[in-house]
Amino acid sequence: MPVSDPLIISEPQQLTADLVHLSTIIDSTIPGWTRQALTEADVVGRHWVRARMAEAGLETRIDGAGNVIGVLRGTAPGASSIMTGSHTDTVEGGGRYDGNVGVAAALEVVRTLRANGIELRHDLIVVDFFSEEPNRFGISCVGSRAMTGQISTEDMDRVDSEGVRFGDELSRVGVVPEALLSARFDTNRVKAFVELHIEQGPHLEEQGSDIGLVTSITGIKRFRVAFQGQPDHAGTTPMNRRRDAGCAAAGSVLAIERIASANVDGRGTTGLITFSPDAVNIVTESSELWGEFRSPDLDWLHAAGNKFHAAVHSEGASRSVDVELEWLPSEQPAVMDNRFIDISSREADRLGLTQSRLYSGAEHDAAILAKKIPTAMIFVPSKDGRSHCPDEFTAEKDIHSGANVLLNTIITLDRELDFD
Ligand code: GLV
Ligand code: MN
Ligand code: MN
Repeated sequence: MPVSDPLIISEPQQLTADLVHLSTIIDSTIPGWTRQALTEADVVGRHWVRARMAEAGLETRIDGAGNVIGVLRGTAPGASSIMTGSHTDTVEGGGRYDGNVGVAAALEVVRTLRANGIELRHDLIVVDFFSEEPNRFGISCVGSRAMTGQISTEDMDRVDSEGVRFGDELSRVGVVPEALLSARFDTNRVKAFVELHIEQGPHLEEQGSDIGLVTSITGIKRFRVAFQGQPDHAGTTPMNRRRDAGCAAAGSVLAIERIASANVDGRGTTGLITFSPDAVNIVTESSELWGEFRSPDLDWLHAAGNKFHAAVHSEGASRSVDVELEWLPSEQPAVMDNRFIDISSREADRLGLTQSRLYSGAEHDAAILAKKIPTAMIFVPSKDGRSHCPDEFTAEKDIHSGANVLLNTIITLDRELDFD
């Protein structure tokens, strides 16, 4: 049978079945779909992905950083490569599509190429990146950072709120810190990275677009703030004699909202806050707050960081509460490759799909890889713009459309990119 042009994925039902299967590998004690990195469900899930890669005909391995990697050899031995993939770890109580779509679609791209007897010149590398979501040590995109040399020995010494070391926790799930730190790819040999992902916001639905072409990915500044005050009796201690760490933290939460709300593209979130002792009749002695600012504008991010620094210290000083502000590994905004955006746009047109260009407010491995490898992202719509929650939903037909754009983008890149 002649091969169609543009090519259409050959087993869309397999793509859907893979997503359904992944949604069964979860921690079922938590509502929603939870497969967090550093947990048993994630280890099982990633081994299942590796087995599916092997069934699709890929040479598979798990690298020192825990990334599950499958390679479809190109026709020129030793040629440079094209990379695609995403992540299968989830947030706590997350959905079934974030990350999973990009991995399942990459598998379907491989199956379709093979079913149609299409051989690429470049090696095609499919990756299920390890630990994309921010973990409890405040580090996100662990696998892609390791692959591109953007993680350090100091990061291994980060501790969670229980005092557990990140490096020790990695070893517990079979990722050896020394191996992680040396799991670097020769990024000069990777000519392109393309990731398919759900949008996770409302833009495509509002525009009535089938496909989103990502122009840039937001920058992120994450932080942890520890407030140290003094425990006192809640009934007998006059308000002006207190050193209430909880009030300093609460004022800082509102400062995050105030700073971010002042700019249309600014985002500011407090994701976690603790009070200790945890009792209704004791003035809070200590409090810890974890949060982040995001924006595609690096200057705004710097300014937001400076304003927040001033705000937390003023919240502390006015209550004689000690403040320790720690900036966690952060990300600068990442720009996507214009040539690749144009290629995906052309392919979406040829597939009869409507499209919009947008920046991503969500973080992605693509943002890390883009610092070293020309990169593009293709989005498909999220129902009601919801994500990082059990209601996250993307229609099957939209996922299949996205996989078709990914497939044809890879074929065109293979033809048009130089390789050596
Ligand atoms: C990851 O999904 C993030 O945007 O935090
Ligand atoms: Mn996510
Ligand atoms: Mn994701």
